Amino acid sequence: MSNSFPILGSFLLFLFAISGGSLRPVNGQAPGQRVWCIARPSTSDQALIDNIEYACDIVNCSMIQQGGPCFYPTSLINHASVVMNLYYQKMGRHYWNCDFKNSGLTAVTDPSYGDCIYEC
Ligand SMILES: *[C@@H]1O[C@H](CO)[C@@H](O)[C@H](O)[C@H]1NC(C)=O
Repeated sequence: MSNSFPILGSFLLFLFAISGGSLRPVNGQAPGQRVWCIARPSTSDQALIDNIEYACDIVNCSMIQQGGPCFYPTSLINHASVVMNLYYQKMGRHYWNCDFKNSGLTAVTDPSYGDCIYEC
């Protein structure tokens, strides 16, 4: 019986090795990886408006208001992306925090432009 433990241990080590050798946190991101949330380009105007209203109940949306660094361009897709990302970062960066009824996309490239810095 005691002889079976080294075999089991080797098997678990093997499973660990083929899984990539790294234990990932619950949100599925590699440690230190930067991920942003943006609006899916094909999203309807109404869904973008809904997302802005939903996110802005939770986060401070002054960035997309007149005088804010992300006011221009004044498009729904731009404004929605900025605040959907704020929401995603605030809620803990779980993939489901960027779902928005399938109108959100996670991005690994920084969407920031000019003075409009996407939080991460
Ligand atoms: C939102 O952020 C702006 C800019 O940082 C700040 O001036 C304002 O007081 C904030 N509003 C709230 C409700 O926290």
